[in-house]
Amino acid sequence: MTLIQITDRDGTRHDLDAPDGESLMAALRDAGLSVEGICGGNMACGTCHIHVLNATPGQLPPVSADEAALLADLPDVVPHSRLACQIPVGPVLAGLSILVAPDD
Ligand code: FES
Repeated sequence: MTLIQITDRDGTRHDLDAPDGESLMAALRDAGLSVEGICGGNMACGTCHIHVLNATPGQLPPVSADEAALLADLPDVVPHSRLACQIPVGPVLAGLSILVAPDD
């Protein structure tokens, strides 16, 4: 389990003990934090859009071309936007802080 700080769409902060080996999308979805993950992690829906608030260099996997293409089509994209389905949970994420992107 890895502890990650989440700010939900209401601005409420949560400490999430996320299961290692799952995607961050699945951890957020299963915790009821307003992330739907409709496409199941296949980079087709954008419902797992998050804003990363404090990642350190190398903490997250690089953004693939497919992820960048989908992010480019989403509203409310910021320079640190990611798809949570593309981020595996593991000890390297300890202390990460994210914001669930608005649902437009
Ligand atoms: Fe659909 Fe991430 S779950 S793009």
